[in-house]
Amino acid sequence: MPATKVIVNLPGEASYDVRIGVGVLGGLGAHLRALPALSQVERVLVVTDGNVAPLYLAAAKDSLAQAGFRASDIVVPAGEESKSLAVAGEMWEAMAALSLGRDCVVVALGGGVVGDLAGFVASTYMRGVAVVQVPTTLLAMVDSSVGGKTGVNLEAGKNLVGTFKQPAYVCADTATLATLPEREWTCGCAEIAKSAVIDSDDFFFWLSDAAGALAARDEAVAAEAIARSVVFKADVVAADKTESRGVRECLNYGHTLGHAVEALAGYGTFSHGACVAEGMRFAARLGATLVDAPWEFVQAQDELLDELGLPALAWSAEPADVLAAMKRDKKARGGIVRFVLPRDVGNWELVDVEDAIILEHLAAWRKAKG
Ligand code: NAD
Ligand code: GLY
Repeated sequence: MPATKVIVNLPGEASYDVRIGVGVLGGLGAHLRALPALSQVERVLVVTDGNVAPLYLAAAKDSLAQAGFRASDIVVPAGEESKSLAVAGEMWEAMAALSLGRDCVVVALGGGVVGDLAGFVASTYMRGVAVVQVPTTLLAMVDSSVGGKTGVNLEAGKNLVGTFKQPAYVCADTATLATLPEREWTCGCAEIAKSAVIDSDDFFFWLSDAAGALAARDEAVAAEAIARSVVFKADVVAADKTESRGVRECLNYGHTLGHAVEALAGYGTFSHGACVAEGMRFAARLGATLVDAPWEFVQAQDELLDELGLPALAWSAEPADVLAAMKRDKKARGGIVRFVLPRDVGNWELVDVEDAIILEHLAAWRKAKG
């Protein structure tokens, strides 16, 4: 199966390639060497986590060495806790101790945690050095490695400190997905479903047909789902690079209730993807009331999520508690809760929804859980 190339063209930025396919990690070094902006670079820092390091760090460093780069590495503990200012601080110090200069490149090898952390560190070390994203989770391949959001968490909330830093290259080797745990696979599937609903009939109906194969981790179907998601995300980011034009918010579809469920159930109780899928089901129903979304769409989305292995959660909470959690989310502005509501596939609206309406729908959501 040949690799696929998607070119991300953003206003005011150098364009960059996303390569998707089996074995593209082997060509990482050669590809970087061929980039005019990086052709003179000598030093590379590979950042990865404790789960990914034993699997793919040697392959990444070998490829870089073959292209004449001198590669060092930093391995952070796996998990969301590494997205912290403390770990970022340790990385800045380690980079200085390695005498890395402004002309080094940071390679983020891992999931969204490593990508966000390494991107943040790269964008701030010596006021910014180049970063390359090498995503190894399905979620990172379809979402976080493209578009340039970086960040770390604070005690006060997730992703509260960060930058926009576009990568110089994204290398998505789908062979690395073979070792991904099932729970992480379905997290990626939820983001793919989100992208398909927001994007178009073409993506949605293709995915509806392919959902069983994607859930069964068919390689060709996964590669196509990744490519379609990257094209979608690149278009969204091109229209609204810094989430200031009311377009990039569409990527938050399903996340309003999703984040509240994640927080109230306790982080880790359900996967992020399971919570996003629950949020998509809820938002679709809210959309049927508020923006006349047809019931056929709500049902088609339910079926898609079921097929992807993202069933409705057998869990609920008091509507008032869920609303309060939604208001604590950083995306709530001035206490007003905003939803991405699909009018139908490929047609959505950002809607500030009154508390009373949210509570009414949350009551129906809770009742449906029995
Ligand atoms: P993650 O990075 O924690 O990876 C999930 C788990 O899979 C980890 O334990 C990791 O060690 C392991 N892993 C990674 N690749 C593996 C592989 N190939 N084989 C075996 N194990 C592997 O989680 P994630 O879901 O990739 O990313 C979540 C993060 O992404 C969150 O912090 C979220 O805020 C962020 N995010 C960022 C953006 C963005 O635009 N920047 C978008 C969405 C999510
Ligand atoms: N929330 C994902 C993004 O905007 O890139």
